[in-house]
Amino acid sequence: MSKTILVTGASSGIGQATARLLAQRGFTAFGTARKPQSAQSQGVTMLALDVRSDDSVRACVAQVVAQTGRLDVLVNNAGYSLTGAAEETSVEEAKAQLETNFFGVVRMVNAVLPGMRAAGTGKIINISSLAGNTAIPFSAFYSASKFAVEGYSESLWYELRPLGIHVSLVEPGFVNTPIGEASPVAARPLPAYAATRTRMLTAFGHALAGGIPPERVAQRVLRIIESPDPGLRYRVGGQATWLPRLRSVVPWSVYAAGVRKTFAV
Ligand SMILES: NC(=O)c1ccc[n+]([C@@H]2O[C@H](COP(=O)([O-])OP(=O)(O)OC[C@H]3O[C@@H](n4cnc5c(N)ncnc54)[C@H](OP(=O)(O)O)[C@@H]3O)[C@@H](O)[C@H]2O)c1
Repeated sequence: MSKTILVTGASSGIGQATARLLAQRGFTAFGTARKPQSAQSQGVTMLALDVRSDDSVRACVAQVVAQTGRLDVLVNNAGYSLTGAAEETSVEEAKAQLETNFFGVVRMVNAVLPGMRAAGTGKIINISSLAGNTAIPFSAFYSASKFAVEGYSESLWYELRPLGIHVSLVEPGFVNTPIGEASPVAARPLPAYAATRTRMLTAFGHALAGGIPPERVAQRVLRIIESPDPGLRYRVGGQATWLPRLRSVVPWSVYAAGVRKTFAV
């Protein structure tokens, strides 16, 4: 019987590429969008989901289980990137970033775990980021959200392993998706940051445009799903693979100089 897989945020980018690849490979693939009627499907059953809402999360997971009787793999991918200097960002904007990128993951995990525990098996794959290892300037709360996903997932790994449930983190570097277009800039600009912020956003846009295709991340997710005993961390793309290694061996000043150059800050 084919595995049932739920991919959050499948209307675009990494989630769309992942859900489509899984459907092509014969899995029963469900994807989500806040407006599923406007999202193209290509073999993926699209469901409504807003990860900020407990009710929406419960209804989405219940629909998957009602249709297939199971949920074998959850891919937590939904997210956005808030940019702007930390001081330019209101607490409300910062909370909203964490509400989607971190508490959205927590809500989804809490909703699927009773079923996975009862089955004694399951996989949870959290799409983190290189930004969960190396903070991006002018993206303090995006970086914080991904650092939070990293710590949370690592704790979960210990807790769920004895119950037969695997937890994996996927950490891509820059991926060429519309995330920059979909994402807000902090609404309270301060002149002190204007020139640097503008340079950073331009560099960020170029880095995304030159990023790896989302299909590379989808292939990694597929391999985790197919693995009988997947590991905790998977880095995708050259930057995501070598930057964390470099960080652990070179002095901070040398490493930070590279990051400053990349983001023109
Ligand atoms: N692009 C990169 O360079 C990169 C690198 C590392 C990690 N990532 C991570 O990869 C994931 C996907 O990013 P992407 O680049 O593919 O971005 P994207 O193309 O903008 O897609 C984001 C997806 O998240 C969904 N989403 C946003 N807010 C949501 C909410 N409140 N509830 C449910 N779904 C929501 C969107 O769906 P709707 O708007 O249709 O609801 C959309 O399908 C994110 O977690 C991101 O942090 C991206």
